[in-house]
Amino acid sequence: MPWYSEEKIEEVRSRSDVVEVIGSYVKLKRSGNGYVGLCPFHSEKTPSFHVNPSRQMYKCFGCGVGGNVITFVMEYENYSFPEAMQFLAERVGVELPKGEMSAEQREREGLRSLLLEINTKAARYYYAKLKSPQGRQGYDYLRARELGDETIVHFGLGYAGQGGDELYRYLKNEGYSDSVLKETGLFKMDERGVYDKFWNRVIFPIMDVNNRVIGFGGRVMGDAKPKYLNSPETKLFDKSRNLFGLNYAKQGKRKNVILCEGYMDVIAMHQSGFTNAVASLGTAFTEQQANLLGRYTKEVLLTYDSDEAGVKAALRAIPILRHAGLNGKVVHMEPYKDPDEFIKALGAEEFEKRLSDAQNSFFFEVDVARNSYDMHDPEQVTAYYHEIAKKLLVFPDKVQRDNYLEAVASQYGIRKDDLRELVIRYGSQLPDGYQELPAERTVPQKKKTQEQGITHTYRLFLSWLIETPELYPLIRDKIRPEDFVEENFRIVAQMLYQQLEQGELLPAKIINHFTEVESQKMIANMFQTDFQTAMSLQEREKALNELVLRIKEYSIDWKMRSLTDMSELQSLIIEKKRWQTPEKLHISLKDGNS
Ligand code: CTP
Ligand code: MN
Repeated sequence: MPWYSEEKIEEVRSRSDVVEVIGSYVKLKRSGNGYVGLCPFHSEKTPSFHVNPSRQMYKCFGCGVGGNVITFVMEYENYSFPEAMQFLAERVGVELPKGEMSAEQREREGLRSLLLEINTKAARYYYAKLKSPQGRQGYDYLRARELGDETIVHFGLGYAGQGGDELYRYLKNEGYSDSVLKETGLFKMDERGVYDKFWNRVIFPIMDVNNRVIGFGGRVMGDAKPKYLNSPETKLFDKSRNLFGLNYAKQGKRKNVILCEGYMDVIAMHQSGFTNAVASLGTAFTEQQANLLGRYTKEVLLTYDSDEAGVKAALRAIPILRHAGLNGKVVHMEPYKDPDEFIKALGAEEFEKRLSDAQNSFFFEVDVARNSYDMHDPEQVTAYYHEIAKKLLVFPDKVQRDNYLEAVASQYGIRKDDLRELVIRYGSQLPDGYQELPAERTVPQKKKTQEQGITHTYRLFLSWLIETPELYPLIRDKIRPEDFVEENFRIVAQMLYQQLEQGELLPAKIINHFTEVESQKMIANMFQTDFQTAMSLQEREKALNELVLRIKEYSIDWKMRSLTDMSELQSLIIEKKRWQTPEKLHISLKDGNS
């Protein structure tokens, strides 16, 4: 993949309007000077996702994501920087240069596309192995599990040989360094040497929504443990944000998605025509996965295993689906354990029937609850009523809640009026204006870091400067980019100062400089610290002077700490003193420049 010049990147970015691009994915509404919508990166019922057309940036105040139009595409599509560039360039009709990147450019671009390339090669290697004489055992295993050749090709299934370091030797031969190979998660490296993580297993490549191989699962062919091994999380592979099979399921014409536990279930279902099946990847279903599904469907059919663990997993998934605004239903496969076994035993037609008999997830929850009470014991029956009443409060909408109440009461023979009374009683204990019960989250919300340190000051200062570029002449000689002791802030300050020198302020352009989503988010955050615009002129003046002094003092302290020559210490002490005298520092604000 080629690398692009700064001019090219900026051309693509500036031609791709952030509102237009994001608006094609997210329903945006005008609000003040910008737009708001429901954040596509976390579940929410009230919009905290803001798009700012004048800055050409977005920011979610709920989960903290933010950046420019390129960041958005990288995040939403799981693209690397060059991929996002190609996507946007095509959209706005900008011609991109072709050609290969140099090693140095690759480094700059970050690991992601290199890892993608290696994964693709590894997948091809495993596939070729499966089809070779040494892969016989793997191939026979898959055939014994009733997978056809077409299915094997479709999912790119493979086989990791018995050598122990075959893949490693192959990729070394292709010229990759150990340090890069280490990042793929495909190898064990220690003092004794390097070994393939997967050997003597059938291999399931895991693809993201855009058909790129981001990781692998491998199954033993007998009863050895562990039955499945999966790639660890890497720069490319975030388990909580991907679903196995979604790349195919998203193209399907069915109105719902089938969510199951395993690779084999997905594959068996697809083979039988249920091409809307996906699996969470050996982990509990997450809020991000629910959001991902929400892009393509409103209804999710749960086909978790029929055993106790499967029921538990379903009970955890249901509130997550509900919270993401998805309608969850539970498919019963008894007496079989999972979709794979069911279809093998009874066939696709019977399975289709089970799908259409899927149970409303609320009734499923009620059923499970009911099973834990003894219906002959009045005490337990009372407790059961209370539990159902509390459960009904997951529905914030009164009409919906009443409908459920009626339905549950008649279906389970519960006295309606008693139940209603309990619901009202519990409901009145909820806070006013309550929207929904606190969601049960599997992924903790990203911590809002309590940033009280110097970086908070930096952010305030930079946000202020971007908001009010007229300040620049006043502070230019006082705070220099070198005064920012954190490297990323220093780089950003340098670029910002340069833009201000040239009289063209484009904060979104500064983000182009960083090619990893994580850095882009961080940079975007530097510009998004809201401070009191309602302050009086005097208050603002005081605040600004304090900010400048803090940055200056910190910078001088930093220099002192890293001194080797003590003769300079004296002059730094003097310099610090000078800054601390109000006359030296004082910046006065007039209306219009603050
Ligand atoms: N899993 C895993 N690690 C394990 C066991 C399971 O990651 N040690 C994940 C895999 O994604 C697997 C899913 O959990 O596909 C379901 O596991 P399980 O029900 O045990 O296996 P099946 O899907 O029934 O697999 P198979 O039919 O191949 O036995
Ligand atoms: Mn199975």
